[in-house]
Amino acid sequence: MRELSLNILDIAENSLKAKATVVTIDVTVDEDFVTITIDDNGCGMSAEFLAKVTDPFTTTRTTRKVGMGIPLIKMAAEQCGGSFEITSQVDVGTTLKASFGRHSIDRPPLGSVGESIMTLLPDIGETRLIFSYQAFGQTFVLDSDEIKQQLDGIPLDEPEILLFIKQMIDENITTINGGNVI
Ligand SMILES: Nc1ncnc2c1ncn2[C@@H]1O[C@H](COP(=O)(O)OP(=O)(O)OP(=O)(O)O)[C@@H](O)[C@H]1O
Ligand SMILES: [Mg+2]
Repeated sequence: MRELSLNILDIAENSLKAKATVVTIDVTVDEDFVTITIDDNGCGMSAEFLAKVTDPFTTTRTTRKVGMGIPLIKMAAEQCGGSFEITSQVDVGTTLKASFGRHSIDRPPLGSVGESIMTLLPDIGETRLIFSYQAFGQTFVLDSDEIKQQLDGIPLDEPEILLFIKQMIDENITTINGGNVI
C-alpha cells in the first residue's frame, strides 16, 4: 500500500466490523521505528483462526474470497525490517502491532491519518475511537467521545465537521513532526 494510513484504515475497519465498543489506534515514532498499534474489545478470534489469519485466503467475508488487510500490513512491516504481532481472544478483543523500520527505503510514508480517521468516523456509531500520535517527545490524542460531547448534538458525520477533524489531526501531526514527512 502506498501509505501506512491506508493500512490503519483497513485494520481499524476490522475492529468496527468486530463490534468493538472501544477502538484505540496508536502511532508511535521513535528513533528506529514507526509503530502502529490497534486494539479493540470486539468479538475476537479463536486461537485456530488467529493462527491462519495472516494467510490471505482467510476471511469471513462472503462477497470476496480473499481477505487482505492483515496479510498486507504484516508484509509491509516485514519488508522494511520491522515486526508484526497479533493477539486475540474470543469475546475479549484483538491487539495488532506492526512496526516499520523508520529509515528503510521500503517503508511507505505515514500518509494522511486524518483522512483515514475521517473515513472511519461516519461508521463508528456508538463506538469510542481513540487515536494517539506520539513522536519527538510530544503526544496528540483525539477521542471521539470527547468530540461528540463538544459538538453537543451536532452529528459527527457532517461534512464540515469531518473535514475539520481531518485537518486538526493532520495539522497536529505535522506540527509534532516539525514539518517533516514521516
Ligand atoms: N479485530 C478483529 N476482530 C475480530 N476478527 C477480526 C479482526 N480483524 C480481523 N478479523 C477476522 O480476520 C479476517 C481477516 O481480516 P483481513 O482484514 O485480513 O481481511 P478481511 O477484513 O476479511 O478483508 P479486507 O480487509 O481485504 O476487506 C476477517 O474477515 C475477520 O473475520
Ligand atoms: Mg479487513
